[in-house]
Amino acid sequence: MDQQRRRLWGRSLSRPLSPTLEALYEKRMGTLSYDTKDQTFWKTFSSYTLEIGFGDGEHFLQMVRAHPDQGFIGCERFINGVAKVIKSLDENPASNVRLYVDDIHLLLKNIPRSILSKIYVLFPDPWPKKRHNKRRLLNRDFITQCHHHITPGGLLCMASDIEDYREFIQEEIETIPHLFEVDAITEAPLTKYGRKAVREGRTSKMFIYKKI
Ligand SMILES: C[S@@+](CC[C@H](N)C(=O)[O-])C[C@H]1O[C@@H](n2cnc3c(N)ncnc32)[C@H](O)[C@@H]1O
Repeated sequence: MDQQRRRLWGRSLSRPLSPTLEALYEKRMGTLSYDTKDQTFWKTFSSYTLEIGFGDGEHFLQMVRAHPDQGFIGCERFINGVAKVIKSLDENPASNVRLYVDDIHLLLKNIPRSILSKIYVLFPDPWPKKRHNKRRLLNRDFITQCHHHITPGGLLCMASDIEDYREFIQEEIETIPHLFEVDAITEAPLTKYGRKAVREGRTSKMFIYKKI
């Protein structure tokens, strides 16, 4: 295996990329990748949004395109979804976006405090079995960490088609009072997993929590 492929496969890959996509990934990640040592990105825009686990990136790219005057950072540990975003950004470039291809916990350690106007977590992995609940991303500690990085009055937007997960988050938030309050409950965006929920007859909701 050559050095390039080994670098790529260090991340999570559900199936191999085509050689063309793999070459594009390597070429474009140099400029698109969030450089944790370079703080210039945080001095460029008046507001910033983070999407965690953007999957195929449909919702993420919609925001990036709709608000060229705002900064966006997308985090996804699966290379296949990231490669789709890179392809779109190669065809139609945008200078207001950075990507982080690894675990969100690592990224949050390298983001300034009180800088994000919004964080989106759309259809996080539900881990429905009781014994797996502890693997859920949006637990008390993670929500507290998000709080550190959101601007006062900023929003944590969470969509799920699993009522038990939505209740779980609400309960976790209640154990850390004075951090967030529910600002609105809206329809969830029709991402890949949002559409899957519709096909399978589940109702999705987006809870928007405001930093107090
Ligand atoms: C169920 S999918 C939802 C994808 C997309 N948001 C959607 O609505 O179609 C959950 C996504 O979160 C990503 N993810 C899960 N845990 C993560 C973590 N710790 N850091 C970064 N991404 C993560 C997964 O790779 C996966 O793509």
